[in-house]
Amino acid sequence: MTNKIAVLSGDGIGPEVINEALKVLNVISNKIKVNFEFNKCLVGASAIDLEGNPFPDSTKKICDNSDAILFGAIGDPKYDNDPKAKVRPEDGLLEMRKYLGLFANIRPVKTYDSIIDNSPIKKNIVSGTDFVVYRELTSGIYFGNKGISDDRSHAFDTCSYEIKEIERISHLAFKDAQKRKKHLTLIDKANVLETSRLWREVVQKISKMYPKIKVSFLFVDNAAMKIITNPKDFDVILTENMFGDIITDEASVITGSLGMLPSASVGNRISLYEPIHGSYPQAAGKGIANPMAMILSAAMMLDHTFNLKEEAEIIEKAVEDALVNNIVTEDINSENSFSTIEVGDWISNRAEELF
Ligand code: IPM
Ligand code: MN
Repeated sequence: MTNKIAVLSGDGIGPEVINEALKVLNVISNKIKVNFEFNKCLVGASAIDLEGNPFPDSTKKICDNSDAILFGAIGDPKYDNDPKAKVRPEDGLLEMRKYLGLFANIRPVKTYDSIIDNSPIKKNIVSGTDFVVYRELTSGIYFGNKGISDDRSHAFDTCSYEIKEIERISHLAFKDAQKRKKHLTLIDKANVLETSRLWREVVQKISKMYPKIKVSFLFVDNAAMKIITNPKDFDVILTENMFGDIITDEASVITGSLGMLPSASVGNRISLYEPIHGSYPQAAGKGIANPMAMILSAAMMLDHTFNLKEEAEIIEKAVEDALVNNIVTEDINSENSFSTIEVGDWISNRAEELF
């Protein structure tokens, strides 16, 4: 059987970390005789440079004809400080999410005891943290009506949600909670925002279909605090687009390195897998980027899209073993670090041994 995977390396460290994920996937395919066909295509700033469009038609077509998408990162500093730029790499990402209908972004947050001392938070608070964030990804303020007046003296962005957009991701989150610790927390700002009040109403209604799940509601400002002071109180977090963006960056520091967190974006058809770190342009080309989040994203792909649970677990175990043996990049150990390629090689070899 051949599984078609669109490979969108993107910008900055994207290409380097994706290469390591492909290496690990090749080990898996050799072991279990599953064929992965990798089709590389352009996205982000590199696509603007070459084709004038951050999500070109050629990439759309390859994505449409694939079983899954591996995505590196996008973003380039040359666009960040230019508020008037006509086209930005990020536009490509947003268009891609909308075009592919990737309405739920799933971001697991888990600490590893072997690197717990890297966490800026006390060990007894963070050790054992294990929660997952369901972030709505194709609506809310990212996609609402927006504009700026001709004289640039006034601008607006609108947050808007429809019931069905809240329902579909809520069901995914409730179903996952059933398989986990049966606790779902909705993060919103229902004391101020109408959209948040709609989220609460819909989630309260849906919760009746999942009577075994304990449901908590937290205002986002309070949640921002609790994620740091009591991360172990969370199991499944459900939230809208922008709150999810902010909360997951916050949550990522708990583990001690932003380079550890994978994610899956799912919808009605194809799913996309990407690390939650960005393009980290300062590190591009230096061979110092941590490939673990990208490798763990490939593991999520094996599990979610190809139903290869055991193989996904082998990759996770190989990553954990790399941490235990201190085979890590400089974000985790600045004194004795390995390169992106060395870490990827070690994890691939370890995965091979674990079969
Ligand atoms: C993310 C990123 C994107 C977002 C940016 C690059 C548009 O921060 O995936 O979290 O805000 O969704
Ligand atoms: Mn983000």
